[in-house]
Amino acid sequence: MSARILDGKAIAARIRARLAERVATLSFRPGLRVVRVGEDPASGVYVRNKDKAATAAGFDSATIHLPAETSEAELLATIARLNADPAVDGILVQLPLPPQIRTEAAIAAVDPAKDVDGFHPLNAGRLAAGQPGLVPCTPRGVMHILAESGVALRGARAVVLGRSQIVGRPMAQLLLGADCTVTIAHSRTKDLAAECRRAEVLVAAVGRPGMVRGDWIAPGAVVIDVGINRLPDGRLVGDVAFAEAAAVAGAITPVPGGVGPMTIACLLENTLDAALARRG
Ligand code: GUN
Repeated sequence: MSARILDGKAIAARIRARLAERVATLSFRPGLRVVRVGEDPASGVYVRNKDKAATAAGFDSATIHLPAETSEAELLATIARLNADPAVDGILVQLPLPPQIRTEAAIAAVDPAKDVDGFHPLNAGRLAAGQPGLVPCTPRGVMHILAESGVALRGARAVVLGRSQIVGRPMAQLLLGADCTVTIAHSRTKDLAAECRRAEVLVAAVGRPGMVRGDWIAPGAVVIDVGINRLPDGRLVGDVAFAEAAAVAGAITPVPGGVGPMTIACLLENTLDAALARRG
C-alpha cells in the first residue's frame, strides 16, 4: 500500500471540538430537530448518532419520532410547527420516508433558513448559482477533508461518480466552485473506468460495494469514497475496492472512518450557521 490515508474520523473530531468551543460562547443553544418517521433500522442508528454528537457539542437537540403510518399531511404539520418555533434553528427530516409520504413534499416543506440538510430546492438552486446557502452535509464534509489534507483543487480534473441530489450533484457544484474541471459520471456513462482514470480527484458516491477497481485510478490520484455499504457478512465497505486502490492512489479515505464521520460534523456546522444567520 502506498496511498496516504485521509483520516476523516480525526478531522471530524477536530471540527466538532471547534464547534463546541464556539457554541459555548453563545448566549443561546442552537436548536436541532431531527424528524424520523417509521422504523427503518439504519435510520435509527444515524439519528441516535446525530443526537449524541449534537448534545455533546452543546446543541439543544431532540428527535421527533413519528409512527410508520403517519400521513403526509401529519408530517407536513409537524414540519410547519418546527418552522414556526423560534427555538429551532435546524430541521432534518431523516430519509427514507415511508411510501405514503412524498419525499419532495417533505423536503420542500422545510423553511429554507432551517434546512440543515441543504436539500430544499432553494438551497440547491443557490448552490448551483454560486450563492451562499445551506449546503448538503456529506459534500461539505468531503470539501473539508480535501482542504485539511492540503489537496490542491484549482484547475484539477475532478470526477464525481454518482448524480444523486444528496451527494453527486452538490459535490460537483462545490468542486466547480473550487475551480476544478468537473465531470459527473454515472450508471449510463460510456466507459466509466476511462472517465475515472482521468481524475486527479475522484469522488465515488454510487452505493455499490467495491465498484471502483484499482485499474480505474490514475497513479497518485486523490480518492474520496463516500459509499457506506453493508455486506451480507456484516462488514462495512465503500464504493472503492480499497486495497487495490490504495496501491495506486496518492491518498484515499477509508470506510469506515473516512467521509462518514464528516457528515454529522457538517450537520452541526450547518446548524450553527443557520442559528447565526437567523439570530445574528
Ligand atoms: N438518510 C441517509 N442520509 C441522509 C442525510 O444525509 N440526510 C437525511 N435527511 N436523511 C438521510
